[in-house]
Amino acid sequence: MKVVIVGHVDHGKSTFVGRLLHDTGSLPDGKLEQLKKAAERRGTPFEWANLMDALQSERDQNITIDTAQIWFRTERRQYVLIDAPGHKEFLKNLMTGASGATTALLLVDAAEGVRDDSRRHGCLLGLLGIRQVAVLVNKMDLVGYDEHRFRRIEAELRTWLGTVGITPCAFVPIAARHGDNIATPSPHMRWHEGPTVLDALDGFETVRPAPNRPLRFPIQDLYRFDGRRILVGRVESGTLRVGDRLEFWPSRKTSTVRSIERWGADTAEAAEGESIGITLGEPVFVERGAIAARVGSPPREGTCIEARVFWLARRPLAAGKRYKLKLATAEADCEVEAIDTVIDPATLVAAIGGTVVRQHEIAEMVFRARKPIAFDAFDEVASTGRFVIVDGCDVVGLGIVQAARRPAARIGAVGRNGHARGGVLWLTGAPGPDKLKAAAELQRALADRGRSACVLDDETVAAGLCSDLTPSPADRKERVRRVGEVAKLLEAAGVVCIAALSISDRGETERIRRLVPDGRFVEARETQNLSQILEQLRFGDDGKAVAS
Ligand code: GTP
Ligand code: MG
Repeated sequence: MKVVIVGHVDHGKSTFVGRLLHDTGSLPDGKLEQLKKAAERRGTPFEWANLMDALQSERDQNITIDTAQIWFRTERRQYVLIDAPGHKEFLKNLMTGASGATTALLLVDAAEGVRDDSRRHGCLLGLLGIRQVAVLVNKMDLVGYDEHRFRRIEAELRTWLGTVGITPCAFVPIAARHGDNIATPSPHMRWHEGPTVLDALDGFETVRPAPNRPLRFPIQDLYRFDGRRILVGRVESGTLRVGDRLEFWPSRKTSTVRSIERWGADTAEAAEGESIGITLGEPVFVERGAIAARVGSPPREGTCIEARVFWLARRPLAAGKRYKLKLATAEADCEVEAIDTVIDPATLVAAIGGTVVRQHEIAEMVFRARKPIAFDAFDEVASTGRFVIVDGCDVVGLGIVQAARRPAARIGAVGRNGHARGGVLWLTGAPGPDKLKAAAELQRALADRGRSACVLDDETVAAGLCSDLTPSPADRKERVRRVGEVAKLLEAAGVVCIAALSISDRGETERIRRLVPDGRFVEARETQNLSQILEQLRFGDDGKAVAS
């Protein structure tokens, strides 16, 4: 199982990988002692993160790779961990080397909290269809192993990831440097009832390619050998057999597979991922870049490519400009025909239309190719549904082909929920970890039902929305007003706002209730059981209950 490790710079990715290898007994004998001694000699503190560099430089010798790929195994299975050294590498690797990854671990520094790249990476995982994600809240030692702090980050990221289509499988509080909750439960965080990282990894499901996937065999080159013409390439999807009737796209010429050529083997079948050569029954003229499919299960074909693009270059993408798209083995000369929506993945703020896409922005847009090209929707066949964008000699962006044209503002609460109404779920009772835990559970339960929910707690409100306020009566009133306004806006955007605030004054609660439309404000005690609360959550969208 391939696992990408993502997260903001310095949040502890490499330290985590080093510690995981150690705690699972995966390190060569004596390696750790050797590195500790070396650090001592240099007079520098030992860093777990250096373990990775040391292992890598030994193994790779002269080969330069820009992603550290580390192998280790548990009783359940073998893993390949991909720890990208920096932001840019990470992005490139997600689309190329690491693109086979089906799972990810997102690390967040408990002291620093959720940062731009934590959000950006989360958004990209969503974009690339990586749905199995566990969040590791690291450096818990720096916050005194505080449950409160953990719950706050959990709630914030659950909301964020939910918005980009990811429901995390687990949230694990860890201290990578000290091995807390990595392979064994931490004595410092007895309040954590969830899995260790190792349990979370072993809990991921193995994603096997679905049977009967359509055959996609992009032609890489054409060889002449012993008077035969051999078409070579990699089977990107499905299975190719001798006797198959093939159609080559976009030319739509057809022929039959006469033989499959492979070093040292004479076989009648080639599986997904294999690089092979084929000869054809009836000779047809086929060029590099064509995609062979079985007759009857064609790819899409045309000059209009609707895509979701992540822009890497400093120079913005511009409407009307020409770029080269590299899709499987094909290269297509394309013009930017339209920019529908531009989204900042660090904030999810979306702008409709526009003429440029800046660095690190995501755009939903349309390319127009000079000549017809064959491709698939990324959701259907990933390897023929993604492409890189090239300007001159530089890779300037990454893209995936959209399934079909949908209305604008597809990312984000409003788009995801359509016309569904939100609501305000007011949790009464004493503040503390129990209340935050109840809020997180409700949020999860709502996410499972496809609803976006957002948690407002005292600390979050005090840190941002109301950071300028004092405990004076006038400011208390102002705090209530602001919280009410935010809840109102979230409700209107289709989000369920779970308020886990310490507002004891009845009058204050009532003032907020009045700000929210009738029937969309529900009060619950955190001591009530979950299903009871959800039962109350009947906000009655079009007669349908939210929760049931
Ligand atoms: P980049 O590769 O540069 O993006 O950083 P990274 O995410 O790999 O972080 P790295 O593992 O290099 O750790 C950054 C710093 O955080 C190092 O000094 C680590 O020792 C420190 N660190 C990592 N985990 C912990 C932890 O659990 N507790 C404490 N106190 N420090 C930690
Ligand atoms: Mg690192």
